[in-house]
Amino acid sequence: MNNRFFSNILHSLCEVTLLEVKKVSVIGAGLMGHGITQVLAQVAGYEVYLKDIKQEFIDTGMGRIKWSLGKLVEKEKLAQTDADAVLKRIHPTLDMKKAMSDTDFVIEAVPENLDLKKKIFAEMDELAPSHAILSSNTSSISISRIASATKRPDKVVGMHFFNPVQIMKLVEIIRGENTSDETVKIVELVSQKMGKETVLCKKDSPGFIVNRVLVPALNEAIWLLQEDVAEPEDIDKAIKLGLNWPMGPITLLDYVGLDTTLSITKVFQKEMDEHKYAAAPLLGKMVKEGKLGRKTKQGFYDWNK
Ligand code: CAA
Ligand code: NAD
Repeated sequence: MNNRFFSNILHSLCEVTLLEVKKVSVIGAGLMGHGITQVLAQVAGYEVYLKDIKQEFIDTGMGRIKWSLGKLVEKEKLAQTDADAVLKRIHPTLDMKKAMSDTDFVIEAVPENLDLKKKIFAEMDELAPSHAILSSNTSSISISRIASATKRPDKVVGMHFFNPVQIMKLVEIIRGENTSDETVKIVELVSQKMGKETVLCKKDSPGFIVNRVLVPALNEAIWLLQEDVAEPEDIDKAIKLGLNWPMGPITLLDYVGLDTTLSITKVFQKEMDEHKYAAAPLLGKMVKEGKLGRKTKQGFYDWNK
């Protein structure tokens, strides 16, 4: 009875705080950042700052958002006036100070690299208002390590979306060692406002839930290619029809990005087991050659067509 009473009070307090989440900032306008931005502005109705380091990356991200909104309008899932309003709620910028000036909630979506993420979190901690929550869309990196770059580890949390963010329903919420209950509650409420389902990863464990299962499976598919067991099309067909995956693993690798996948395997090796999680050499070779998948038009498949 008492527990329920206090939990109701906490819930109400969080809802008051949630109402105060008016502005959200997304750092990185790439594959994930553009989708997160779109859903924040379209489904949740937030004003969103979108920050990247070069105008060309902002332009690519905004181009992807316009394409996606166009698809929704074409299918009569969204009115043109609503699509126009979504674009008005998105404020692209190259200026971190501006992106942080009056933000309530940040979602970082820069490449999967601990040093880069720590540098950005230190900068965000310096510039964002003290009440702002700083979340990371990392695929595998420890939230506690990222949080150690800030003076607000209680307000740092993992908020892991899935690609394409416009379609995929899940957000994994990851607790760092010092993440507060209130922060977790607010992330849950923001995710719900974005129309997502959430799961809580109680431990800050590498790859959380989904990637701990998915990435070794994708790596195994690369081994099949490397050992010339089957052609890419047949590996994809086998897993699509044999396991009912919507996309085969080789296509999914091109979709996720081979650089991101390689970075995740490196985190697994460092944090868990060097041998068990070693990437198939073909993955490293592809990344070295700049064949990163759909985003560079060349991966295991040729996406120029
Ligand atoms: N915006 C708007 N609509 C979009 C869209 C976007 N960005 N992307 C796809 N769509 C729409 C399409 O227009 C289409 O709509 P209709 O059904 O109304 O025609 C619908 O989504 C399906 O798309 P397609 O017909 O082009 O292709 P599909 O049937 O293969 O579906 C898919 C595409 C939803 C991506 C599906 O293939 C899929 O679910 N693939 C697996 C994705 C997945 O596993 N993601 C997780 C990756 S792991 C990860 O993200 C975590 C990590 O840390 C690495
Ligand atoms: P991406 O390479 O497509 O995009 C990253 C963006 O960050 C680029 O536009 C880049 O210019 C920008 N960037 C780099 N440094 C920056 C800085 N200092 N400030 C602002 N922007 C900067 O990568 P992505 O696939 O969107 O991945 C981003 C994060 O999301 C990674 O941590 C990744 O592991 C995670 N993630 C990826 C997927 C996926 O399927 N690709 C799924 C879930 C999570």
